[in-house]
Amino acid sequence: METKDCIQSRRSIRRYTGQHISRETLEQIVSLASYAPSWKNTQVARYTAVADRAVIDRIANECVLGFAHNAGILQNCNLLVVQTILVKRSGYERDGSFSTTQGTHWESFDAGIAAQTFCLAAHDLGIGTCILGVFDEKKVAELINVPSTQAVSALIAMGYPAENPAVPQRKSAGELLRFIG
Ligand SMILES: Cc1cc2nc3c(=O)[nH]c(=O)nc-3n(C[C@H](O)[C@H](O)[C@H](O)COP(=O)(O)O)c2cc1C
Repeated sequence: METKDCIQSRRSIRRYTGQHISRETLEQIVSLASYAPSWKNTQVARYTAVADRAVIDRIANECVLGFAHNAGILQNCNLLVVQTILVKRSGYERDGSFSTTQGTHWESFDAGIAAQTFCLAAHDLGIGTCILGVFDEKKVAELINVPSTQAVSALIAMGYPAENPAVPQRKSAGELLRFIG
């Protein structure tokens, strides 16, 4: 797929066919996501693939802060990727101090770039994704035993698409861009 087509045609997919996503396909997506840029090439993003129905259902029932919409997406997907980041690396000096005045900002920045690269790679392979931000990160970390050196950044529900949603409206370049000079 052309890069610009991939960027434009990717949608958040919330309904899935139930077709199995192979381990090889997931590895290919993670391998492509590893090409995302990161702070000093620290590559802090990690991915835990959860295919266990009981675990996904527990996340849906116990970890979505009462947001039924997200519980429904999780109950419909049969592969959930929990994106985590290695903490205190991106945006930090070796002595543990912040490199910039933006503090922890670069950790989420790196996670976001990696997540979008992941979603674009999945889309190119015909797999739909939906990044979920409304969840309790501590409960999810506890449920899937995330090591204390990592923090949960996002949930990415995945599956072969069973819907073809319309494009949510985008702002024009004129609204987004400010020129100086
Ligand atoms: C950081 C972030 C958090 C999001 N959280 C949720 C969520 O909790 N539930 C949901 O259904 N969609 C969520 N989304 C998906 C957005 O709603 C979606 O990207 C947006 O409406 C634009 O649609 P599109 O992805 O199809 O272009 C999230 C997206 C991002 C980037």
